[in-house]
Amino acid sequence: MSETEAGKQNDNRSPLEGAKLAFIGCGVMAEAIIAGLLRKQLVAAGQIVGSHPRAERREELYTKYAVRMFESNREAALAGYPTQLSTEARRPGSLVILAVKPQRLSTVLQELKGAIHPDQLVVSIVAGARADTIAGELLHPAIVRTMPNTPAQIGQGMTAWTATAAVSESQQLEVCAMLEALGKAIRVENERQIDMATALSATGPTYIFMVMEALVDAGVHMGFSRHVAQELVLQTMLGSVMFAQESHKHPAELRNMVTSPGGTSAEAIYQMEKGTLRTVLSKAVWAAYQRAEALGEKLKDGK
Ligand SMILES: NC(=O)c1ccc[n+]([C@@H]2O[C@H](COP(=O)([O-])OP(=O)(O)OC[C@H]3O[C@@H](n4cnc5c(N)ncnc54)[C@H](OP(=O)(O)O)[C@@H]3O)[C@@H](O)[C@H]2O)c1
Repeated sequence: MSETEAGKQNDNRSPLEGAKLAFIGCGVMAEAIIAGLLRKQLVAAGQIVGSHPRAERREELYTKYAVRMFESNREAALAGYPTQLSTEARRPGSLVILAVKPQRLSTVLQELKGAIHPDQLVVSIVAGARADTIAGELLHPAIVRTMPNTPAQIGQGMTAWTATAAVSESQQLEVCAMLEALGKAIRVENERQIDMATALSATGPTYIFMVMEALVDAGVHMGFSRHVAQELVLQTMLGSVMFAQESHKHPAELRNMVTSPGGTSAEAIYQMEKGTLRTVLSKAVWAAYQRAEALGEKLKDGK
């Protein structure tokens, strides 16, 4: 075990202890992170600040979570910098989370320019926005780029993230702890892999929901009521995922386990292969990947 790992094991403090988090643009995703952080008691409400242009949204978030809200993005980022040192005279972490829509990002970065302290870490959840674009606009090198997905809204998300070279080890631990609020998180090697994760896990619910819808429709076609078909399909999907996770078996092995010679699964597999289901899914993921790359290029050019 390395010294760093040993140090981490002996240190039971949360990486977010005393840290401050400033959410820039408090829509659906920012609220999901705030709610998850508070629900899992990873931070206290006093450690969170946020910004939103609309007064009623600021009021709503303050009422629901008791977090301090600002109209100005710049003021929120400044308020997100901890002024007090911890008991060991260490400065707690400070994260500025960019959670606006891609088309608003350019304006927001202009507003934040010069307001980010060198110790602060900028975490972007903005789809398509490259770390070097953000670093260049803010003149700030420590950037983490994340790509969550929709189930994050109920704490069951899958987030891929990557960090620029200027992000310290303790800041990486802070990011991991924060992303726990959304579900699972995995660090990927570079931004190309963020685009790949955009196609696979961030676009992933689209594939699953479409398969889900098609199966429910097939149930209705056979004569089930939509309500019964939906219950049968959703629980089957959930149970299959949990079974795959717990058994640690390859999907093909699991599929073989339920395919008896001349049986119903064998008949269904024959039709799925004939309809090129695998090829269609593979093409869909590849197309989404190319689209993610193209959108990143567009955002880089400020379009
Ligand atoms: N939702 C997902 O499942 C998901 C998954 C992966 C990545 N993302 C990324 O996460 C980011 C946020 O997505 P979201 O679904 O949370 O979007 P959202 O609900 O629209 O949140 C963005 C919020 O920013 C506010 N806003 C608009 N202009 C602003 C400004 N100038 N300064 C500060 N705030 C401003 C918006 O206010 P108004 O309501 O008044 O417009 C809105 O409440 C996006 O970049 C998206 O690509 C989302």
